[in-house]
Amino acid sequence: MSLKIEPLSPQLGARVTGVDLAKPLDGETFRRIHQAALDHLVVVFPGQELSVEDQLRFTGLFGDIGARNRATPLPEGDSVPPTVMLVSNIRVDGKPIGSLPDGEMMFHADGAYTETPKKFTLLYAIDVPATGGNTLFANLYAAYEALPDDLKRKLAGCHAEQVFYTGSVQKDDPLGPLTGSWVHPVFIEHPDTGRTSLFVSRLMTTRIVELAEDESNAVLERLFDHEEKPEFVYEHAWTPGDLVMWDDRCTNHARTHFAKTERRQLRRTTVSGTALAAAKIKQAAAVEAHPGG
Ligand code: SIN
Repeated sequence: MSLKIEPLSPQLGARVTGVDLAKPLDGETFRRIHQAALDHLVVVFPGQELSVEDQLRFTGLFGDIGARNRATPLPEGDSVPPTVMLVSNIRVDGKPIGSLPDGEMMFHADGAYTETPKKFTLLYAIDVPATGGNTLFANLYAAYEALPDDLKRKLAGCHAEQVFYTGSVQKDDPLGPLTGSWVHPVFIEHPDTGRTSLFVSRLMTTRIVELAEDESNAVLERLFDHEEKPEFVYEHAWTPGDLVMWDDRCTNHARTHFAKTERRQLRRTTVSGTALAAAKIKQAAAVEAHPGG
């Protein structure tokens, strides 16, 4: 088998074939996959047969495996290790066996509401609906680059608050208690590539700290509408056996509607990230935009 990396769309995403992730990888194969994840932001490995252990071993190649937030009991209970999330609407005795079970989910980045947002998320498809339940990925480097100049200038050096309520898939419908909140720069420097990325999302971002409430709300709506434009988005329609891995520091993801009567089950692992610094180029612009302050 020889490794093949093919772009999936002009926006982002690559299909990676010629590798069996259930087996240990040699150093060169790992290096090429890691580089593909940084270059294409989303990498899709079709036709994988992965046990929980296989998925954890592959995840661990990219850094520390992310732990779940255990502030409230998880629907998964002890059915999977504490580092694994089952994203599932399957119910036993009327109760979902996994997290984030139902419905359309707004764009977000995993762990954005913590000090150290996730580096990568890996989602492995077990059961998928016949229609819907697709995952959308938005390229936030491209969204930053195409941002109108007035917004680039206004937001240089600004920070945004990110908030998440346990299990919520829509902003105005908090399903559980507050999971966490954190403030990050609006424009971040990607820790591995050094590129500038927008870092706000419709599900989690609540306000721009430096702006008055009305202005903050108006600016956020503009940012959300901008970064969700189809020109920045790749839509993944799942097939069982797909493992999809994405970079949470320069993409947002969302989920399309699917019928409650359809079974959907995916297994999620994450790689821990680091604190995110403001994009340097934007800090310089901030001095120009707000001299003396
Ligand atoms: C997630 O945001 O982790 C879940 C995405 C999905 O269910 O497609």
